[in-house]
Amino acid sequence: MIQGLSGKKKDNSNTWLKAEMRRAFLPEDARVLDLFCGTGEMYRRAYEGRALQYRGIDKAQIHDVQKCTLIDNVTYVTRHDMDKYNVYDLDDYGCPWALLYLILRKRAPGEITVFITDGLPLRFKLSGRVITLISGIEQIPRDMELPGQFRFYVDMFATMLLDVERRYGWKTEQAVYARNDGATVYYWALKMRK
Ligand SMILES: C[S@@+](CC[C@H](N)C(=O)[O-])C[C@H]1O[C@@H](n2cnc3c(N)ncnc32)[C@H](O)[C@@H]1O
Repeated sequence: MIQGLSGKKKDNSNTWLKAEMRRAFLPEDARVLDLFCGTGEMYRRAYEGRALQYRGIDKAQIHDVQKCTLIDNVTYVTRHDMDKYNVYDLDDYGCPWALLYLILRKRAPGEITVFITDGLPLRFKLSGRVITLISGIEQIPRDMELPGQFRFYVDMFATMLLDVERRYGWKTEQAVYARNDGATVYYWALKMRK
């Protein structure tokens, strides 16, 4: 189910890599909710002219007042209909798993694509301590010292996908990742169905 991409990049930039993943896995009828839209780099590189619909969300900066809303993304997802979209872009600096859970809990059955930028491996490298999120999903004690836990990051991500399937019925049909050079940030494309 999980596939890691490797091989030579055409250029060294992680921005290029992120955009390439989005272009490669964007469905033809894409209705995109870009929940960390920022200054619109992904919009310009991957969605403009390709997506049927686009809404950008950011709490600090937006790139188009017509297409974007300046608001905290948890507030937006809580208050708005998620069924209008079939592509969710979670291009976080940190780890957007909680937001993914929130979307999947609300979203009506169908076929969706999710793009995730996940900085959790960096957190794992900085500290061996098990965080609350992982403790719940993996059923291991919170605050336990787990040296080298970043080596198990992909397995933990896979357990998280099984957890959302068990809780909300969303089955992951395809999960593809690429990562930055230090393997501290992973870029995921997920195809999910319920
Ligand atoms: C990695 S940047 C996104 C870059 C963007 N995808 C692009 O292509 O230009 C992360 C963005 O997430 C925004 N952000 C962080 N936490 C947020 C939150 N809770 N709600 C909304 N936006 C948030 C930040 O303001 C920042 O612009």
